[in-house]
Amino acid sequence: PPSIPIFTQDEVTKHRSLEDGVWVTYQGSVYDITEFVSMHPGGDKILLAAGGALEPFWALYAVHSQEHVLEILSEYKVGEL
Ligand code: HEM
Repeated sequence: PPSIPIFTQDEVTKHRSLEDGVWVTYQGSVYDITEFVSMHPGGDKILLAAGGALEPFWALYAVHSQEHVLEILSEYKVGEL
């Protein structure tokens, strides 16, 4: 079976702009959300999490505590930490 790519936090942190790609982490998984940024209902705020963890932001914006939000996120998984 294909193995899941493993990334370091350093590699994730290098992806924090639309030019370099926008990556985030959530519960140990890594997501390349570059293509989703322009579709985000909350606009450019999503870029505050670029290169880091979603958890602190989603704790503040409880609108994300919904199954359909996690379904969207899952489409962008590229690996794990
Ligand atoms: C709303 C997805 C990251 C701030 C939403 C909604 C989705 C979504 C689907 C609409 C929810 C609904 O109304 O049912 C995502 C995904 C993210 C992400 C997939 C990461 C990959 C963030 C971050 C922030 C943020 C990091 C803040 C720093 C907001 C705000 C809204 C929102 C303020 C409400 C917009 C409104 O209704 O006016 N997000 N979000 N989001 N998001 Fe995010």
